[in-house]
Amino acid sequence: MKMAIVGAGVVGLATGAGFADLGHSVHCVDIDTGKIALLSRGSIPYHEPGLEALVLRNTSAGRLTFGHNPSKLLNDVELLFITVGTPSGDTGEMSLAALWSVIDQIEAWPDTDIRRMIAIKSTVPVGTAERVELRLRSRLPDNCLVDVVSIPEFMREGSAVRDFFEPSRIVIGTASVDAEERLTQLHQRLPGPILATDRRSAELAKLAANACLAVKISFANEIAALAEQTGADYPSVAHSLGLDPRIGPHFLAAGLGFGGSCLPKDTRALVRMADEAGAPQTLVEAAVRANAMLPLRMVRKLEAALSDPGRRRVALLGLAFKPGTDDMREAPSLRLIAELSRRHPGITLTAYDPEANHAARKLLPSSVKICDSAEEALKGADAAILVTEWREFRQIKADDFKIWMNRPIIMDGRNALDAAALNAQGVVCIGVGRLPVVPNESARKSGDLVPKV
Ligand code: UDX
Repeated sequence: MKMAIVGAGVVGLATGAGFADLGHSVHCVDIDTGKIALLSRGSIPYHEPGLEALVLRNTSAGRLTFGHNPSKLLNDVELLFITVGTPSGDTGEMSLAALWSVIDQIEAWPDTDIRRMIAIKSTVPVGTAERVELRLRSRLPDNCLVDVVSIPEFMREGSAVRDFFEPSRIVIGTASVDAEERLTQLHQRLPGPILATDRRSAELAKLAANACLAVKISFANEIAALAEQTGADYPSVAHSLGLDPRIGPHFLAAGLGFGGSCLPKDTRALVRMADEAGAPQTLVEAAVRANAMLPLRMVRKLEAALSDPGRRRVALLGLAFKPGTDDMREAPSLRLIAELSRRHPGITLTAYDPEANHAARKLLPSSVKICDSAEEALKGADAAILVTEWREFRQIKADDFKIWMNRPIIMDGRNALDAAALNAQGVVCIGVGRLPVVPNESARKSGDLVPKV
């Protein structure tokens, strides 16, 4: 099939290159001419495992091409995917400016024998596909027939390519049997179950999935807080919860909460849309609020472990919103840094992320020293906060913490480290949802959870 994609973000590129790899001819368009120039030279502007190889393989085979003008895209393609961003507007609603800009640029096509399809993959409010179709119909000649469909994307950053080839499900929301059949056939070679439904249900299925994940994470974080207050161990509680097949083991990790380009924005948009629709989502709203409190909670825990943080040096291990990506959009590290600086104006912050340092230099205040290694960030630090659970942080030895740091106090914001092993070797490691561990027997006897600093 000949297809086009508008929006060369991670989702657009992985989708375009993925379909090209399945033998289709794909033309990928983006308004950002710099990005298109890079892509045309074979360079990928994202840190996304497997994407570069996939794109290169298909550009050199001539199945994947790039451009920047969406106006004539429907001239010779049967299917146009829209994967442009739908960022948060001022009051939490989704901004559909980029989507409407694409739709309004689409010109009438000459060969009207084949009915065109526009598939919206961007996450959008319920009813958007219908509105897009109405807007196109009002502007295009009657013989330019187009089906606007909703095929939401469930790709995760860091595993976008795998998620394309091994989708958990493929949701196809259409308003015509013809579109449903053509799209079902297109996706037949992918292994996930295909769920054919109407457009509104497909749109809500995406928003509901992200909201459900957000609720699960906030639930985990609140139970973890309760575990801390009552002397229980949250990881053991989570393990037990996860073994219940009705609950499942995923998205129960407590820590600094959810960030990224999707969960925060999509939950806000769902709450806003639900209010307008007269079906308030109080649970999701509470999940969003609970998530926003987590960085402050971490700062308070640091204050309990380290006297006078305003005169101390604190190292942040990890800045990206999750490991495996260089993305800092709505990363918990940003709110954590803001809280630390607000409550302790004199604090010295150092930070290191294996992939996100470049993005961090553009986003963080110059007062945060971005370091080239964990060792450099930890050197002379009075405490460290593990913000993103990169594997390399798990490999830091207790002796390294003790030699590099002024005082080996680690606030493990993701329960990524072996607290018991570190503790046994004289490093204070305080996880989430667990009692603080003491560094040695004498401190336990004296009743101190954390050595006085
Ligand atoms: C998410 C959805 O998973 C994906 O289906 C959708 O298409 C886009 O949004 P992504 O933003 O890549 O994908 O991140 P994801 O891996 O889902 O993690 C989201 C956030 O939740 C991260 O900040 C992560 O650290 C946090 N998280 C995840 C937890 O705090 N605890 C967990 O148990 C799991």
